[in-house]
Amino acid sequence: MNKPIQLENIEACVFDAYGTLFDFGAAAERCRDVLGDKVQQLTQIWRTKQLEYTWLRSLRGDYVDFWHVTGQGLDYALAALGIEDNALRTRLMELYFVLDAFPEVPEVLRTLKDSDFKTGILSNGSPSMLIAAVRRGGLESLLGPLISVDDVGIYKPHPSVYQLAVDRMNVPAEKICFLSANAWDAAGAAYFGLRVVWINRFGTPPEQLPGSPEAEIRTLSELPPLLVR
Ligand code: LAC
Repeated sequence: MNKPIQLENIEACVFDAYGTLFDFGAAAERCRDVLGDKVQQLTQIWRTKQLEYTWLRSLRGDYVDFWHVTGQGLDYALAALGIEDNALRTRLMELYFVLDAFPEVPEVLRTLKDSDFKTGILSNGSPSMLIAAVRRGGLESLLGPLISVDDVGIYKPHPSVYQLAVDRMNVPAEKICFLSANAWDAAGAAYFGLRVVWINRFGTPPEQLPGSPEAEIRTLSELPPLLVR
C-alpha cells in the first residue's frame, strides 16, 4: 500500500530515532566477525525485547531510562542465543550508543532546513544516546530539539510523550508531521493527533490499532515532496 498524498500546513517535522533516523541493525552487523550468521537473529530478539520492556515498564510504572532497557534487552537476546561473551556485550552496547544514520538522512534533513521547516527528534532514547547518535551522524546543525521520553518518565506510545513534541517544538499538533518507521509508534502518534508519515522500510502490514498515518513511504527521501506549508 502506498499513498502518494500531500500533507498541507506543516510547520515542523519531528522524527522518531531508532529505526527511523538510526539503523539499530548496525550494531550487530558491525560484530559479524563474532556473531556470524546470528547477526539478524540477535538484532531481532534484542529489538523485540527492548521494546517489550519499554511497554512492560510503562504498565508497571517502573521507568528506567532507555540505555538501561537496551542493556537488559541485549542480555536477554544473548542468553536466548546461548552467547556468553562480556567483551561482545560491551562492544555491542558501545556501537548502539553511536548507531549509523540511514544513508538518506543528512540530505533529507538539509532539504527540510533549506525549506524552513522546524525539525527535531522525539524518542524513547535517553538524552545522552540521542546526542551521541546525532553527533556521530554529523546532524547537529540540521536538527532542533532532541526530545526524550526521559522528561515524562514513561515510554511511547503514552500520549504524554507525543504532547512533549507540541510543547517543545512550540507548534500545534496539527502542524507537526511525525515520522516513524515503527508502525505502532506511527499509530500512537496519529491517535494522539499528530500528522503522521509512516516510513515502512520493511514492507510490513499496518498495525490493527486506532490511529492511521496520513501517508506511507519506503525511505525518508520520499518525504520532502509530500510536505506543503
Ligand atoms: C524511539 C524508538 C521507538 O526512538 O525507536 O523512540
